[in-house]
Amino acid sequence: MKFLVLNGVNLGRTGMREKGVYGTDTLESINRGLAEFVKAHGHEADFFQSDIEGELCTKIGQAEGVYDGIVLNAGAFTHYSYALRDAIAGVKVPVVEVHMSNVHAREEFRHKSVLTEVCKGEILGFGKNSYYLALESFWL
Ligand code: DQA
Repeated sequence: MKFLVLNGVNLGRTGMREKGVYGTDTLESINRGLAEFVKAHGHEADFFQSDIEGELCTKIGQAEGVYDGIVLNAGAFTHYSYALRDAIAGVKVPVVEVHMSNVHAREEFRHKSVLTEVCKGEILGFGKNSYYLALESFWL
């Protein structure tokens, strides 16, 4: 299978911002680990990060027929992006929503995701392992 690991706004600064919340590993090193993990299980993955909402929507729209699944950490877009929600609803590719932090144990505005309803499932609160668990969900 082939997967797309998609990260949204501010996730490019993982390892540099709010280390107590998101850890000290950079997104690049997390993605390297994920690439090895996926390969070790006989699969493939592409990686993309953008701070621009529309670029993420475009990537999702182009995923049909290319990817078997998308792992998406949309960052703060999670909480208000109807554009991303529509992009997910508009493709047949299953999307697993991911968060490194336990958003339900944080500020109230993070308790609501406008994406979950159109996603296959959601994994949150396990730091970088949230990405591993989300990928694994496609083949377990
Ligand atoms: C996040 C949680 C979001 O609320 C936040 O805006 C992020 C990261 C997470 O991975 O825990 O940027 O998606």
